[in-house]
Amino acid sequence: MKGVILAGGTGTRLAPLTRVTNKHLLPVFDRPMIYYPLGCVRNLGIDEVVIVTGGDHLNTYKRLLGDGSEHGLRAIHYAVQDGAGGIAQALALAEPFVGKDDICVILGDNIIERNVRHAADAFREQGGGAKVILHEVPDPHRFGVARLEMNGSGHKIVDIIEKPKDPPSNYAVIGIYFYDSDVFDICRTLKPSHRGELEITDVNRAYLERGRLTYDFLDGWWADAGTPDALLRTGLRVSESGANKVD
Ligand code: G1P
Repeated sequence: MKGVILAGGTGTRLAPLTRVTNKHLLPVFDRPMIYYPLGCVRNLGIDEVVIVTGGDHLNTYKRLLGDGSEHGLRAIHYAVQDGAGGIAQALALAEPFVGKDDICVILGDNIIERNVRHAADAFREQGGGAKVILHEVPDPHRFGVARLEMNGSGHKIVDIIEKPKDPPSNYAVIGIYFYDSDVFDICRTLKPSHRGELEITDVNRAYLERGRLTYDFLDGWWADAGTPDALLRTGLRVSESGANKVD
């Protein structure tokens, strides 16, 4: 499995912090934000990653991360996303470095307390398709949200709605996803949403329609450090309890 870290976008919600640097290079407690998603994929045993970022910041990433060996990586590749065309557009740019491998995709501003090893193991067992990770939140209208239905003794996921006005549950789809290499064919079929972006929720819905989407719940806390408040609170959480802990 390879890792794909999406670190593009313009970071408008964090302006002016993001006027001269990339959001994922901003400090979260004692290190640049990008170190956390890197730690998350390393905890899965992944040693080859693709970082998708804006062309203006490519050299800064190369200076910061070098050949990746300091982070336990065997290889680190970069793909350039110009402008803000959406998460699925950024993901599509990773295709030349991924080939036919499965991938773990993580949004560069998503930070977790623990790890997603159980989900990665379950995804490897399921043999292709896709898996999303859910986490209960108080403000689901800010995220992609899962609709779950009773299925025998458990629940199955029947829909995902992006930024719903009337959320069908409190379970947000966090920014860590597992896909097989069909994901790139799916990305080619997408049309821009009303916000003019290719949405990762539409990718997940395509797998749902094929009956190939599963889900798992996250252990521990999750933060999406994309706003000034969230950036501050996430830094405090990391300083108090750490992040990317391995059991
Ligand atoms: C994106 C996704 C959304 C997901 C969220 C997690 O939202 O579109 O489905 O729940 O990341 O961080 P955005 O950051 O683009 O608002």
